[in-house]
Amino acid sequence: MDNRSHQRRVALCILLLSLCGAAGAERSRQEAAQRMIAAAEGGLAPVYAPLAEQLVRTLDLADMNGIGIDLGSGPGTLIVELCRRSKLHWVNADINPHFFPYFLARAETAGFSGRVSAIRADAQRLPFRDHYADVIVSRGSFQFWGDHEKAFAEVYRVLKPGGTAYIGRGLPASMPLEEARTLRRRHGSGPKYDVAETEQRLRRIMATLGITDYTIHRPHAGNPQAVNYGIWLQFTKSATETHAKRCGFPGNEKKVE
Ligand SMILES: C[S@@+](CC[C@H](N)C(=O)[O-])C[C@H]1O[C@@H](n2cnc3c(N)ncnc32)[C@H](O)[C@@H]1O
Repeated sequence: MDNRSHQRRVALCILLLSLCGAAGAERSRQEAAQRMIAAAEGGLAPVYAPLAEQLVRTLDLADMNGIGIDLGSGPGTLIVELCRRSKLHWVNADINPHFFPYFLARAETAGFSGRVSAIRADAQRLPFRDHYADVIVSRGSFQFWGDHEKAFAEVYRVLKPGGTAYIGRGLPASMPLEEARTLRRRHGSGPKYDVAETEQRLRRIMATLGITDYTIHRPHAGNPQAVNYGIWLQFTKSATETHAKRCGFPGNEKKVE
């Protein structure tokens, strides 16, 4: 075999290997979506309605107009519950688009097809303009976001001035202890992470990003049965936030509408 045909064979092998790799990655994204859909319809099903109720109450969403984003919404079960309780247009922004056919079909069946959208999005580089969303929520996703500082900075950038983010993992505070315990038991002893350490990490991120208007919620922390309700971070973008201010151009500030 001459040198050139050897090189061609090597190039062909590399191409075939990379195609196999891409197909494998696609298959594993598909399988991950199927597993999460099964969880959302199964053991996690009791989480979404009370969580939506709590979000609507805490963030005063019932009569709000505009755009809500659920970042890492996956099957979008939370969005459907939020549609039932608010007037906002909800966007499912998730890195894995294999969720979208399920999500859109589910929203349509529930009568919300005109009220929702879906877009492939990596939290670390959101495909939205500055000051786009009135509210950004997220459940059970931030732990996968890679560079947390980058991702939370993106959430802040995309929020409208005065808009609020509510991001966390776990269960709504309103879920009764016995129900939470049963749900956690069904998934072994529950997720294995240090809630106190996560709180410190989130506080450090807020400090680095210069976000002072935030609250960390740890529902039922220290309950006698040690049921893990998780951790939630709520922060609001200053109503007088300006792009120039954030970008560090003092003196060149323009208020955004
Ligand atoms: C455990 S699932 C939670 C899904 C949904 N929030 C729920 O509670 O039913 C985690 C979700 O985060 C998404 N995700 C992971 N990394 C992401 C990223 N960097 N940007 C956006 N979404 C991401 C996954 O595709 C998945 O849908």
